[in-house]
Amino acid sequence: MNRGRFITLEGIEGAGKTTAATFVLRWLREQGVAALATREPGGTPLAERIRQIALERGGEAVSPVTETLLMFAARALHVQNVILPALARGEWVICDRFTDATRAYQGSGRGVDPRLLDTLATAVHPELEPDCTLLFDLPAAAGLARARGRSGSNADRFEAETVSFFEKARAGYLALAKAEPNRFRVVDALAPLAEVERAVSAALSGLVHKETVA
Ligand code: TMP
Repeated sequence: MNRGRFITLEGIEGAGKTTAATFVLRWLREQGVAALATREPGGTPLAERIRQIALERGGEAVSPVTETLLMFAARALHVQNVILPALARGEWVICDRFTDATRAYQGSGRGVDPRLLDTLATAVHPELEPDCTLLFDLPAAAGLARARGRSGSNADRFEAETVSFFEKARAGYLALAKAEPNRFRVVDALAPLAEVERAVSAALSGLVHKETVA
């Protein structure tokens, strides 16, 4: 049996990843592809508990390195208990954020040493990289306005960050996309929904086709 494909969705807050994940899942199923949607940090019961710790506001101080370790602790559980077993069963995994998020937020946003991120990525998922990463791109101010409109006074620790933090994360994402143009597809997240969906299905149809002729 073929290993499933690993598709990741990335972007700053308010980029529309969650809506896109629902669309991707439906579109893949229409193509006859078995797929599951999951998210980070989280995706397993224990990893969801780590998510709460990583996102909650107002507790004790969490340093950028601690934040990084929490993300990778959750990721280690998720890779081992959900992602790798699903791929081995031949299912596609649609993951709302993965290690590129740590590179963008903790690396570019918070200044964590990229060598530490490389070391942790190698330890946690030595042989796993996304087959395709959809990066939903938009200016930080627009994304943050959307996200805060949704969460109101319940903004989490990240949503409470400044526009300049998200501009750094966005720049980090765009640099990653530039460095790996074959893996990344950059989607204009400000475009009308139908256009976003067209761009997403166009990006994935090549992979689906490869699968069916393999
Ligand atoms: P979400 O908004 O996609 O649900 O993600 C939760 C927050 O976690 C979001 O603000 C980005 C942040 N995050 C990181 O900072 N680093 C990571 O590695 C991941 C997966 C998420």
